[in-house]
Amino acid sequence: MPLLQVKKMTHFFSGLRAVHNYDLSIDPGEVRGLIGPNGAGKTTIFNLITGVLTPTEGEITLDGVSLVGLKPHQIASMGIGRTFQNMKLWRHMTVLEHVKMARYSKLSYGLTGAFFGTMKRIREEKENEEHAYHLLELMEAAQFADQNVLNLPYGAQRRVEMARALATDPKILFLDEPTVGMTPEELVDMMNVFRKIREEFGLAIFLIEHRMKVVMELCERIQTLVFGEVIAEGTPDEIQNNPQVIEAYLGKEEVA
Ligand SMILES: Nc1ncnc2c1ncn2[C@@H]1O[C@H](COP(=O)(O)OP(=O)(O)O)[C@@H](O)[C@H]1O
Ligand SMILES: [Mg+2]
Repeated sequence: MPLLQVKKMTHFFSGLRAVHNYDLSIDPGEVRGLIGPNGAGKTTIFNLITGVLTPTEGEITLDGVSLVGLKPHQIASMGIGRTFQNMKLWRHMTVLEHVKMARYSKLSYGLTGAFFGTMKRIREEKENEEHAYHLLELMEAAQFADQNVLNLPYGAQRRVEMARALATDPKILFLDEPTVGMTPEELVDMMNVFRKIREEFGLAIFLIEHRMKVVMELCERIQTLVFGEVIAEGTPDEIQNNPQVIEAYLGKEEVA
């Protein structure tokens, strides 16, 4: 059974059809890419699957369970982690606190027995902190643990955002243009981080990305979206050599 499956999903913004008859099937551990021109509907697809928007039509299932109509936090707790195209980092919080926060909803403070409750709480707090720190190490951002999130270099902020998404133990991670605005050095760090995430967690990734080098290197399969419709789906080789994809997207100047 696929991990994530979408069937015939369509979405209208008033009169505008942003996504049309969209199908998707991602297996556990698979890295899938979604590419296409600006305005093609890529972010809308993420918003539809993660519950930010409700599709006009279509089915969405995670491990066979329907997600349509559920709230974003419910979908997140079922195993879809995501970062945002515009980072939503909290002000006035250290990097470590920021990553710990993401996991709090997963912690259960026992209600029975004040003493044992307290002991359990202290232990869970400690485990949460260790886990958050470990994620920051993996993301090569542990050196920033005690700093304010807003003081970090841009690339490091993106890696903290990813640590935060991982803190919820997702089965699949949605990444919306994670390398946008990065310097070449930051890009190298980010590619290393992607490799580590795959090695350590083996989780599936659904990646929207403009940089072809990143998409082609990371993804096993890629979909090309144009005007809300998938015009091609295949391996990096198949996509790079597909005349329709070159005509509609890869041949354009905006693609690096
Ligand atoms: N909340 C919204 N309300 C109305 N139209 C929207 C909204 N979000 C996106 N759109 C429109 O839907 C289309 C797809 O947008 P988007 O999914 O952001 O594209 P992409 O991420 O591929 O650049 C665009 O025409 C965009 O203007
Ligand atoms: Mg977008």
